Amino acid sequence: MTAIHHDSTLSDDARRARLYAGDLFVYSSVPAVLKLVELAKGMIRETFGALDPELAQQHLPVTEYAAKLAALKPAFIHHPECKKLLPEILTAVGCDPEQTYFDVPRMRTSTSDGYLTTGIAYAFHPHRDTWYSAPLNQINWWLPIFPLAPDNCMAFHPQFWSNPLKNTSSGYNYQEWNRTARYAAAQQIGVDERQQPHAVEPVQTEPDIRLLPSPGGLIIFSAAQLHSSVPNSSGRTRFSIDFRTVHLGDVLALRGAPNIDSRPTGTTMGDYLRCTDLSQLPTSAMAPYDAGPPQPALGG
Ligand SMILES: [Fe+2]
Repeated sequence: MTAIHHDSTLSDDARRARLYAGDLFVYSSVPAVLKLVELAKGMIRETFGALDPELAQQHLPVTEYAAKLAALKPAFIHHPECKKLLPEILTAVGCDPEQTYFDVPRMRTSTSDGYLTTGIAYAFHPHRDTWYSAPLNQINWWLPIFPLAPDNCMAFHPQFWSNPLKNTSSGYNYQEWNRTARYAAAQQIGVDERQQPHAVEPVQTEPDIRLLPSPGGLIIFSAAQLHSSVPNSSGRTRFSIDFRTVHLGDVLALRGAPNIDSRPTGTTMGDYLRCTDLSQLPTSAMAPYDAGPPQPALGG
């Protein structure tokens, strides 16, 4: 059973407990989210000039398009305003800023009709972030920049919350990925040669769940939730933002979602910054996570 909580008034502690049990949360309108969306929109418009950003893919050679994204995305990720707006968003929806640590927000694009689905605009196959060395207590936050549509959004596959999938996560190490593949993203046009964790058995992706909050809204889900990019056939490029958090109390207590099939090594624990002072988690709190998650209880 996967419950979808809409504009929930649960406390953050209660919400995280539900997220670790596989529930999804959607908020329809958060003013601080809208501020982040406006910041992103401004940068996107600057990048594409007179072109409508959602339709620019129809007017630009793919290499030129990829080059624009390669400049836009890091500029957004490292924009100083983001480090102010993320704590504002998290506090607005009830997170304790002393206990909550976030990583930098990523801007994602999903072009329509297979125009560019590799490298800088990688189209995500069904995956759990925990296959990518995220801890089991990571929470994912996702928000659209322009309106979504059923054929232009992300999808959840909650039937795999408790059903393991055979996958290649054991070959993934986050620290190693950072040293090598991530920086090659912009060069991956046509075929993406970077080895990403993926299922090695057929994945029955439908029926799936597609949540379509308006810009200014947001979706929250566990890093252990199987999710994917819906193949975009809408004619428009999707622009979205996502970021991740962990809660210090959960990190210390080793509390989080159950591990059913994630076997990566390494950890993303070093990426999160505390809302209040942008400090990293204490080294002693991160240490139990260094080698990757504890082995899954089930198969997969
Ligand atoms: Fe993901």
